Amino acid sequence: MSAFWNWYIIALVVANVVGIVWLLLATARRKRGVVEQATTGHIWDEDLQELNNPLPLWWLGLFLISVVFTACYLAFYPGLGSTVGALGWTSNKEVAADLDENRRKLEAVFARFRDQPIEQLERDPQAQTLGHNVFVNNCAACHGSDARGAKGYPNLTDGDWLYGGTPDTVVASIAKGRHGTMPPWAAVLGDQGIEEVANYVLTLSGQNADAALAAAGKARFTATCIACHGPEGKGNPLLGAPNLTDNIWLYGGTLDDIKASIRNGRSGSMPAWENVLGMDRVRLAAAWVLAQAPRAETATAAAPAAGEAGQP
Ligand code: HEC
Ligand code: HEC
Repeated sequence: MSAFWNWYIIALVVANVVGIVWLLLATARRKRGVVEQATTGHIWDEDLQELNNPLPLWWLGLFLISVVFTACYLAFYPGLGSTVGALGWTSNKEVAADLDENRRKLEAVFARFRDQPIEQLERDPQAQTLGHNVFVNNCAACHGSDARGAKGYPNLTDGDWLYGGTPDTVVASIAKGRHGTMPPWAAVLGDQGIEEVANYVLTLSGQNADAALAAAGKARFTATCIACHGPEGKGNPLLGAPNLTDNIWLYGGTLDDIKASIRNGRSGSMPAWENVLGMDRVRLAAAWVLAQAPRAETATAAAPAAGEAGQP
């Protein structure tokens, strides 16, 4: 609090207390000893008059006691500007103490899960509840509250993983973040080239495509795309290059969507959470996410070797 506001508040508080005391004493003195029944002059409902009697003494006493209470309160607790008060209590300290207390309680809860493998956390109802809370608070904004994602934000429940679906890879995705980079190809391929290769990509997932364009696109795909998406277009979890054959699309699977992906490139970015949440919460979130998806063994059968080999 700046010096100005400090003194401003002190002045306000003191002026109020002094003002109230003055008002009480002034009204009490003026009316004491007045015998005739003075009225305020208001007449309510024709014959109902409002008397202007002095406060009863006991009432005056109560007011004065509350003024004394105020003075004592201000002596012991904060209230006069930035003066802390004799007890040294502040709401900041109280909040800090509460937070500490909470942290200790949570620490005890988390400690129980720290040494358990993710597979076990996937079956533990308490771990799932905590993991779900972490997800709703930190991840739902991008991945949706049901983790089904949206355009550009992967669905985490379909068992189709950009970066692999083992406990280790999912924990790594969350802890370290991920950045998939698909370069733009407009300059390299030109409009015709994009049309051709996009039609070929359509055939990879069994969609209808222009056969002639697709045939021409196959050579381009081999020349330009397989380095990341693999010779069969099944993707590469080490790069986060999506499988183009499963008809699951991060950015949409229509001809127009695919052409846009190729022409302009794509760069999805998943923030790193290790320093934000700590590994306890990261692991609980991973366990909840994994529990939403079909078992990883079957789901990532397409590229388990590459995924495993990349593990540090
Ligand atoms: C700012 C948006 C955003 C937030 C918040 C976010 N993510 Fe992501 N996440 C993404 C994007 C985008 C990707 C895909 C990255 C890419 O395209 O390479 C991703 C990828 C992932 C992946 C890898 C998916 C795969 O298929 O391999 C996992 C797992 C994941 N996120 C979990 C989480 C969890 C758990 C949280 C919360 C702690 C979270 N994300 C918060 C945007 C976000
Ligand atoms: C340098 C590696 C690399 C090369 C080369 C590459 N891609 Fe990609 N591609 C990626 C990555 C990584 C993504 C995912 C981007 C993201 O996560 O935002 C991607 C995404 C895509 C997508 C969007 C997939 C979806 O699910 O929506 C399409 C389509 C695609 N690439 C087609 C191609 C084609 C066609 C070529 C060749 C002309 C090509 N890519 C070359 C790395 C590459």
